Amino acid sequence: MSGGPEARTVRELLFGLPMLGGELPSFDPEGAPDSPFPLFLTWLGEAVVAGVREPHAMSLATADADGGPDLRVVALRDATEAGWTFATQADSPKGRQLAARPQAAIMFHWREQGRQIRARGPVLRADAATAARDFLDRLPGSRAASLVGHQSEVLTDPAALPAAFAAASARVASAPDTVDPQHALFTVEPRTVEFWQGVPGRGHIRLRYRAERATGPWTRDRLWP
Ligand SMILES: Cc1cc2nc3c(=O)[nH]c(=O)nc-3n(C[C@H](O)[C@H](O)[C@H](O)COP(=O)(O)O)c2cc1C
Repeated sequence: MSGGPEARTVRELLFGLPMLGGELPSFDPEGAPDSPFPLFLTWLGEAVVAGVREPHAMSLATADADGGPDLRVVALRDATEAGWTFATQADSPKGRQLAARPQAAIMFHWREQGRQIRARGPVLRADAATAARDFLDRLPGSRAASLVGHQSEVLTDPAALPAAFAAASARVASAPDTVDPQHALFTVEPRTVEFWQGVPGRGHIRLRYRAERATGPWTRDRLWP
């Protein structure tokens, strides 16, 4: 039984909340491919078919200049053997952190399937022409949101936000070829990729891939849960 609305403490609220409930898919690591990308593609496809909400929401961990960790969600724009690509503002905190320390960790959590995929590796920034093409591929609303800029800066006057959105939307409408120079595409290259399948009561299944470079060759290890 969970705490319900009358619960007074976090512990009471948490009491009895299920974790890894429902029917979970199977995962046979013996039949896993030699490299992680085909398995990522299979799991992503299964997440889409299973109706997992926002399977392309990816946690992205970076470190600041002092080595302090930072974490947020970004949208996955693409993934290939070369890595996972996302877009952001180059002058945002994460953009600056990646310029100074081009290393990151990412994570997908597909709770409806009891699955987690985590990866780490170096981060490459795409050239300006590639970023511009990605920007112009976006819907007008996303382009306007990007052109508003100032990501993560202090908003001293909240009334400035709708005004900035209106100005950016007008700019996109009148000059559709406008490209935000801060729009940056980053790719997290795989060096370590781990697939985690929850199996309550029988030991969760973990399969880790490791390589010196994204092209492999890959070493595969089963991990204790
Ligand atoms: C579901 C979801 C998707 C998001 N997608 C992006 C994204 O693709 N790019 C981005 O810059 N921020 C995205 N954000 C916002 C980031 O989590 C974050 O708040 C913002 O980028 C500022 O991060 P920073 O201060 O670490 O640079 C998303 C947030 C959520 C919850």
